[in-house]
Amino acid sequence: MSDTKANTKKLYIKTYGCQMNVYDSERMAESLGGSGYVEVSSPEEADMILLNTCHIREKAAEKVYSELGRYKDLKIANPDLKIGVAGCVAQAEGAEIMRRQPMVDLVVGPQSYHRLPEMEAKAGNGQTALDTDFPEEDKFEHLKARPKAKRAPAAFLTVQEGCDKFCAFCVVPYTRGAEVSRPAERVMSEARDLVERGVREITLLGQNVNAYHGAFEGGTWGLAKLIRELAKVDGLERIRFTTSHPNDMEDDLIAAHGDCEKLMPYLHLPVQSGSDKILKAMNRKHTAESYLHLIERIRAARPDIALSGDFIVGFPGETDADFEATMDLVREVNYASAYSFKYSPRPGTPAAEKGDKMVDFDVASERLQRLQELITQQQRAFQDAMIGRDVSVLFEKTGRQADQMGGKSEYLHAVHVTDPTVQIGEMRRVRIIESRTNSLSGVVLG
Ligand code: 5AD
Ligand code: SF4
Repeated sequence: MSDTKANTKKLYIKTYGCQMNVYDSERMAESLGGSGYVEVSSPEEADMILLNTCHIREKAAEKVYSELGRYKDLKIANPDLKIGVAGCVAQAEGAEIMRRQPMVDLVVGPQSYHRLPEMEAKAGNGQTALDTDFPEEDKFEHLKARPKAKRAPAAFLTVQEGCDKFCAFCVVPYTRGAEVSRPAERVMSEARDLVERGVREITLLGQNVNAYHGAFEGGTWGLAKLIRELAKVDGLERIRFTTSHPNDMEDDLIAAHGDCEKLMPYLHLPVQSGSDKILKAMNRKHTAESYLHLIERIRAARPDIALSGDFIVGFPGETDADFEATMDLVREVNYASAYSFKYSPRPGTPAAEKGDKMVDFDVASERLQRLQELITQQQRAFQDAMIGRDVSVLFEKTGRQADQMGGKSEYLHAVHVTDPTVQIGEMRRVRIIESRTNSLSGVVLG
């Protein structure tokens, strides 16, 4: 027996998908803290296992079922073990999850996890619990206050949820619901609280974060205003935001990239395709040219900005020429980093329901490989170009060797130094001397 208190229960959370799920997992763990749970790092020692899931592509959703399959023996060995499924698979599949995996005790969607403690209690009485509502009440207002414990230097903060864009391929408008922004003052107070607990960098999160319009004293604040107000918080050194739609990149937000020092020079701005025909079929409501023009304006405001994007290859109807247009756009933008995916038809989305002819599997695979090679080349070149440059690093963790410390540069590169004077939470200037596979190394200046 361990020496933990008799009423302490152990919670194992596994998080899939985007950063918004990472934030939600933190909040779920904190709210279950009130029911006596502490987090553990392996499912074997848990009294409750919670999978916070992603439904964006078929593979992501299927992973959940294979992971659940692995817990069968644990449940047989310990019938009191509770198993929960949260997140977007929970929202999309609801009771179907319990039909496919009867050992699941509770299913909770991303908008109703403030009800998790009650659901956990119900599941404890041998019942199952299902909640995939889009409730009227704001879950953030109903969650327990965040604990006062010291925090790691970089934190996520969800400010906006849901999406009204309805890209033809995407499940998010259905799993996360309509666009909602958290009131500005609530965001400010959560941010101040994080800073008091040691946070130096905040990444503002939203499925469509640049559409943020949080209520403030009878009016609203857009994202640029929120960033400028956050920049006034003493002790907060860095602000980032993700993820954005090109059509919501308004003038004041572009300007903030030029004049707000705490806003980091890194922008994730997905375009999905370089072909206007495909962009139209995707219901993106912008063209390749308007995207390129936007990038030009952002670069005029902040010339050293690092750009990142998302791409889908093999969308129904994509020809070789359409794909080449994507390759051309990638060459023109020159990304610091980018994610690319093979189109995955998602139930309930317009693209899947139309049942348009899928691009041949091998053709799509080859396109994906070519695109990824190009992106890797650009990523490599951007990283290698850091050699000899001085960057700011926020140190977040110790490395594998003695005195080794790791952190992130303003451009989101992982940077390592070996220096006994560096403390976690410090921001130091570092001269980059080497570019490795996935990180840079350098020496601390001064
Ligand atoms: N198939 C493949 N990729 C998708 N994405 C979203 N939906 C799909 C889908 N059905 C990608 C988009 C989006 C990122 C988060 O995931 O590129 O920007
Ligand atoms: Fe999905 Fe498009 Fe909304 Fe992004 S903007 S979450 S891709 S519907």
